[in-house]
Amino acid sequence: MRVLILGGDGYLGWPQALYLSQKGYEVAVFDNQARRHFDLKQGFDSLIPIQTVHQRIESWKAITGKTIHAYHGDTTDWPALSRAFQEFQPEAVVHFAEQRAAPYSMIDREHAVHTQYTNVIGTLNVLYAIKDYTPSAHLVKLGTMGEYGTPNIDIEEGFIEIEHKGRKDTLPFPKQPGSFYHLSKVHDSHNIHFCCRVWGLRSTDLNQGVVYGADTDETLLAPELATRFDYDQIYGTALNRFCIQSAVGYPLTVYGRGGQTRGYIHVRDTVRCIELAIQSEPKAGEFRVFNQITEWFSVNDLAQRVQRVGNAMGLNVQLQQLSNPRVELEEHYYNVVHTKLLDLGLQPHLLNDAEVEHLINVAIQHRDRVNPRLIAPTVNWRETENQVAQTPEPTPAT
Ligand SMILES: NC(=O)c1ccc[n+]([C@@H]2O[C@H](COP(=O)([O-])OP(=O)(O)OC[C@H]3O[C@@H](n4cnc5c(N)ncnc54)[C@H](O)[C@@H]3O)[C@@H](O)[C@H]2O)c1
Repeated sequence: MRVLILGGDGYLGWPQALYLSQKGYEVAVFDNQARRHFDLKQGFDSLIPIQTVHQRIESWKAITGKTIHAYHGDTTDWPALSRAFQEFQPEAVVHFAEQRAAPYSMIDREHAVHTQYTNVIGTLNVLYAIKDYTPSAHLVKLGTMGEYGTPNIDIEEGFIEIEHKGRKDTLPFPKQPGSFYHLSKVHDSHNIHFCCRVWGLRSTDLNQGVVYGADTDETLLAPELATRFDYDQIYGTALNRFCIQSAVGYPLTVYGRGGQTRGYIHVRDTVRCIELAIQSEPKAGEFRVFNQITEWFSVNDLAQRVQRVGNAMGLNVQLQQLSNPRVELEEHYYNVVHTKLLDLGLQPHLLNDAEVEHLINVAIQHRDRVNPRLIAPTVNWRETENQVAQTPEPTPAT
């Protein structure tokens, strides 16, 4: 099967490309390098050194003999996107190619507009490209659990049966996203659902939890195949960030009371989930939604676990409660239905102390690359003009 991976140079897209290529799929990646440009512009960098797209692909060919095709392009650039679809003729399209940081989208007007433009218009172009060039291709779209917010009821898998004034229907689950980024994913979901209904496209919308983990079997084959690993205040995500903070003696940055609970998933399970989605194609016109998480934790659960494991490794891990830069509930109900991927055969890698120790060891190995000035959050949801580059000095661990 030919699989086009949009955003195939990113944290998740690259291991996905390797995983599917190893399994015998014919893979092409399409990426505009926006993530790398942000780093160059702001002085950020991946904790683990990464090769250019071309070097990565050459290394993969040298190691496995397998070819990954590459397209440089932006989903908002219609000619570039059309060319990739016309030439490669994908049977499945895995769409990771979005601006994916909530803090980025909340920096200021320009970043909010960029996020919604690149995500919503990019996805609209992808829908048109499928309709025009490969109408039976299956779109596997990365959404986020953050689309739902934190309602005081169980979060169902995409749809909820409602009884209202004596009548019943099954309708999309209500969405209460917490940033302009999360809103862009909600807008995408509506556009995709619409195109399934109106044009008969087939799609799976994956409401993915926060991803953690530094490697997969394929990225571990050689250092040149490593995927990026972010620890900064914009792109770093909770558990990955805490492990890196513990390795460099930076107090773990707990925002607010730390009761914020979210779904999580290991990167190894992400790549497998997407294969499961590809293998079980929806019918023409069908819009499926899977909640792509394996378990959930509060910020305090994660911080305390990293502290316990780090201290057992001889580190002196401190927690620091920061005033919450985000607007979100800090204590709330959280229970998520997530059975569809399990039913398709997912065998989850659940978080254990060995994985936390592994992540801390990865961070220790590369700790000379950490710039502590990139860790503290400076983007505040209540402000409309935030600075990113001028981050304050960290408070050292005591
Ligand atoms: N990492 C997580 O914890 C997480 C959690 C839930 C959902 N997701 C979703 O998964 C997807 C991938 O996330 P990631 O962590 O790999 O992010 P990433 O930023 O590392 O990768 C995204 C890639 O897409 C590229 N890209 C961005 N906009 C593009 C455009 N308009 N055209 C072409 N390429 C473009 C970037 O250059 C980058 O290589 C995103 O859609 C994200 O919202 C990620």
